[in-house]
Formats: sequence, structure tokens, C-alpha cells
Amino acid sequence: MYEQVSHSLLNEILVKLKPDIKAEDLRYFYIRLGANFYAIYSLFHLLYGHRDDFKQQAQRLVETMARQYIARPDQYKQKDIEREKDHNWFLHQQWTGMALYCDGFAGKLKNLKDRVAYFQDLGVNMVHILPIMSCPRGSSDGGYAVSDFRKVDERFGDLEDLDQLATELGKRDILLTLDVVLNHTSNEHEWAQKAVAGDERYQDYYYMFPSREVPDMFEQTMPEIFPETAPGNFTRVEGMDKWVMTVFKNYQWDLNYSNPAVFIEMMDIILFWANHGADILRLDAVAFLWKKIGTTCQNEREAHLILQLMKDCCQVTAPGVLFIAEAIVAPVEVAKYFGEDAINAKECEIAYNATFMALLWDAVATRNAQLLNQGLKSLPDKLERATWLNYIRCHDDIGLGFDDNDIRLAGYDPIPHRRFLIDYFTGQFEGSVARGKPFGHSASTGDARISGSLASLVGLEDAIEKGDPEQIEDAIKIIILLHGMIMSFGGIPLLYYGDEIGTTNDYKYVKDERKSGDTRWMHRPTFDWEKAELRNKPNTIENRIFQALKKMIAVRREVAAFADFNNRELRDSGNPHLFAFCRVNPSYVSDRVLVVGNFDKHPQHVEIEKLTQAGSMQHCQLHDLYSGEKPVMFKNALVVPPYRFYWLHAR
Ligand code: GLC
Ligand code: GLC
Repeated sequence: MYEQVSHSLLNEILVKLKPDIKAEDLRYFYIRLGANFYAIYSLFHLLYGHRDDFKQQAQRLVETMARQYIARPDQYKQKDIEREKDHNWFLHQQWTGMALYCDGFAGKLKNLKDRVAYFQDLGVNMVHILPIMSCPRGSSDGGYAVSDFRKVDERFGDLEDLDQLATELGKRDILLTLDVVLNHTSNEHEWAQKAVAGDERYQDYYYMFPSREVPDMFEQTMPEIFPETAPGNFTRVEGMDKWVMTVFKNYQWDLNYSNPAVFIEMMDIILFWANHGADILRLDAVAFLWKKIGTTCQNEREAHLILQLMKDCCQVTAPGVLFIAEAIVAPVEVAKYFGEDAINAKECEIAYNATFMALLWDAVATRNAQLLNQGLKSLPDKLERATWLNYIRCHDDIGLGFDDNDIRLAGYDPIPHRRFLIDYFTGQFEGSVARGKPFGHSASTGDARISGSLASLVGLEDAIEKGDPEQIEDAIKIIILLHGMIMSFGGIPLLYYGDEIGTTNDYKYVKDERKSGDTRWMHRPTFDWEKAELRNKPNTIENRIFQALKKMIAVRREVAAFADFNNRELRDSGNPHLFAFCRVNPSYVSDRVLVVGNFDKHPQHVEIEKLTQAGSMQHCQLHDLYSGEKPVMFKNALVVPPYRFYWLHAR
């Protein structure tokens, strides 16, 4: 019955489509709309079917998709068709990403074009440029408080510069990833300003309340994201006499997705950036899209419905474009952002693997892999046609987002263990060489997260200052070890700009009053191109890290087992310092790579049979794909040197 209703509505909509839309060649659009309309209708109906204006809104949604389809440049329409034919393209092991701030890395978008050779030198072929949309000077949360969703901020240039950059990257088969900040706008966005001026239509774009009554109910169950700088989840707005929901900073107003007009606006914006050459869109803070009293207002079912609807609409207009879910949530929740009960991703094809990231940091601090091994068991399998974004550092803080129960199973007490990790990375723990700072400390819960650059967190900054060659050596090894893990785990490795040359903390932010309250700025550096030049000077720190990563990327590209067509198989080595898993080439199951990492300062060994599962790999033939050498063996035991990893393959 539903199917019939959706069909007749589709016909009705098509009849009413504006004449200027009809004139265009809409062949592919119609085919894709036909294939996806039932799903689109059902989801839109689930979310908004109770409204009197449901039909008009559905009409507007289809019109939005059609208009953006017409606006879509031919070169991207062509890519859509190619990718539809080769829909597994992004699971290939050839992709390696890097996230960067345009201004920090290159200056303007125009200058970024001149840095493409650097990506190619390293082997990076997916570039995530952190937000470039217009935002206010001061209160911008690093670009995540957008005041105009259709404009490139003038600090970076303009849309034309972006189009040119996209074309340049495209020619070199480098993917472009852009951010779309879905959950909120800046308080200086036109919608917010109209709302303040009393326009009810735009007041309904946000969550606004005349008194504290409803906000107080929400607060009972909502956690605080930025407890130090923006306590609570509501802000009283001057000149309006209302409380506005502001989950992040007080100048970031949460959008009200229970209003279909908001959904349609944001869908239009997603397609707008797709049409400006983004191959991949990073959807920011997706866990927060739906708010409900009595919940944490994260991971609600409707947030998933909204993402499914966005994906289906994108399939119609720009099917070649992928979504990344930025959902920094519990392990069991993260995988749901691929969509549930499916093979293909129904929501986002790619998701940040925050669980793996946090667990790797636990292994660094404890020098063992107990929690890493345990915690990964709680990470659900991904869908077949979906993939992880594996990373060590990004522009945000490190949240210790693993499960308390896993901490217990790994043999620790959750509260003191979390305390230890914070103390360790902020250098408070006796003997710690880390130079991080706490972020988001909450006085009420005692929770905190961690800021700091990769190099400083693993002791490089401290070692250089002390002039301690052994510690420098260890830090370099740990940086390489961690990259060895994200490059082989399964998924797209995402490097963070500067990490490839051992960039330490940047303390300039302390002097900038717009940044000083937010320690995340210490790991959002201005890239040092002189330092980067040292990558070509033998035996410098820069050279050793850069060349190691470069080699890893090149080797990875040749290893079919590293493509992400299946989930890794964890291996229990019985040695708490070792982390081991196996990757299998789906076309030849005997073609496998055994990854083993040693997080300890001392050599560790393991009976090789424990890892190879009785004969599936002949250990006499094992060699390490990364170094090209045979691994160290002692009798029947595999020996892993301190802070080293192997990518073992049987010839
Ligand atoms: C995302 C961004 C983060 C920002 C937040 C609010 O989590 O990565 O930097 O503060 O969203 O937009
Ligand atoms: C919280 C949010 C995440 C955001 C981060 C910014 O962890 O869940 O989305 O990136 O805060 O610090």
C-alpha cells in the first residue's frame, strides 16, 4: 500500500515540477529517483508524515534534488556513472588520507594547489580540508560555527578557487573531502539573525524556549560537550528573551531537524558542496542530530533516519559522493552510522574509528595491548560495503571512549585507569614523557579528554628538550608503530598534517585570547615548510618519520589483503604487550598478512603457531612486507623488537 502511495505522490510531484526543470535532460535523475523514491518517501513520511504540509515539503525536496542535479557539472556526473559501475572503489587499499587546515598548511586555497607535490611525494591521495565555509572571526570553533553555508571564507579565497583546486586534485586522482557542519549554525548565520529579529519561520529552525522549564528537563540527561568554555546546553540570547539550544559552544545554535524545512535546506547544502567537487563529505557531529527529552540527545533513532534520508537523496543527485560519519560515540553505537541490517551502507560509507584511535593511545600509555585487544572485541563488524577511517590524531581532542566493562576485562579498575591515562598524557604521572594538556575537564563528572600533537604525546618534544637520544629514538619508533597499525587495520588511514614530520605542540594559541581557552589549538599548527624540507636530509627526525610513512603507504598499496573487503581477524598472542591481527585477501584466502605490533620498550616474543593458527602460514617462509626482511625468530618464537611492528606475509 505504502508503495502505491509513494508512487502516486511521485507522479504528482513530477507533474508539478517547475517548467525550467523539465526542460533539462533528466534521464539519469529519473532513473535514480525512481529507484530511491520508495525509500525516500518512507523515511520522509516517518519523520514528517504527521504534518499538514507533508506533500508540499516532499515536493520541495524533490525539486531541490532536481535543481542540484541540473547544476551538477558534467565532469562530476561522469564520475557518478563510473563510480556507480565500480561501487567498491573506495574499499581499495590505494587510498591514504591527510586532514589539514587550509590556512595552517598552505595559506589560501590557491596556495594549496601548489602543495600537491608534497602529497604525491608522501603518497597521500585523499585530502580532507577542515571547514572552509564562512564563519565569524572570533567565535568560530575552528570553522565549525558557520555563518554562510554557501560561501568560502575569504581567509581561504572563494568558490572559484575551490573549483580550481578540485579540478587540479581530480586530474591527479586525489580525492577531495570537505566538511559539512550539519548540526548547528553560528549565531551570526542569517537564519539565527532573522530568528533574533522575531521571524517565527526562522525561530523554528532552532530549538528555542521562552523559559527554563523545558531546558531544565533536557539538562537532566544531556551531558556537556565543552564544560569549561560552554557549560550547559542552552544559552539565553540577548534581545530575544529566549533560551536557545547550544550543545557545543554558546554561539553554535543547534538546528531543529524536526522541521522539514531545515532538512531540505541542509540537503541542498550537502548537494551544493558535492557540486563544487567534493568526492567525500565529512558530516560533522552526526550523533547529535535529533533531540529528545529524557535522553542524552545522541544516537537517537531519528538521527539515523535523517542520515539515511540524506544518503538516499544524495544517491539521486550525486551518487558518486561518499559520506563520512563523524560520530565520536561508544563502540557499539559507531558502527550503526553505516546503517543497520544491510550490506551497502545506508547512511555513511565511512566512519571515524574513534574506538581504535583511543585504544591505540591506551596501548602507548600502558606499553601493553591488553585493553586494545579487549576493546576491539566490542567494536562491531562493519558492513561489507563500508569502511573505517583509521586515525591516530586529528584536529580534536582524544576522548577515552572505550567501554568501562572492557577496562575491567583488561584487568583494570575503570576510574583509576582513566585517571592514569589523563595523568600520563598530561605529563603528571611519574616518569611520563608526554606533553599533552587536558581538554573538556568537567568539574561535575571529573571526566577529561586530551589535547596535544602526536609527537609531543609520545615524548618527542620532551626528548628533544632534554637532548635524550634514546628517548628520541623511542618516540620515532612509536610514531611509526602507530602508523603501521592504522595503515593495515582495514579502512582508509587518515594522517594528520605535520605528524609525518614529527611536529610538536604549538603554544602560540595561549597568546591569542580567541584560542587560549581551547587547548585543541596546540595541535592545529602552522605547518613548518622548512622543517618539511628536512625530510630529504638523511637521518634527521623528519627524514626518518617521513620516509617510513612514505614507504608504508607505497607497500600498503601493493598488498591486496589490505583492501577493506572484510573485517580483520584478531589474534590472541597470549603476550600482553603484543597486538596481532590477520588480514585476508578475499580473492585468495591463503594470501594473508599477519600484523604484529609490540607496544613495549623491550623486545617481546610469541610462539609463532599461536598467531598463524596451525599451519595457515608457513613460518619458515615468513617475511616482513614493510622492511622486506625476515622477522627475528628464536627457535619457534617470533621476536618483535621494542616499539616495532611486522606485516608478515608467507611467500
Ligand atoms: C566536531 C568537530 C569539532 C567541533 C564540533 C562542533 O566534533 O570535529 O572540532 O568542535 O564538531 O562542531
Ligand atoms: C565530543 C563530540 C565530538 C566532538 C568533540 C569535540 O567528543 O562527541 O563530536 O568532536 O566533542 O571536542
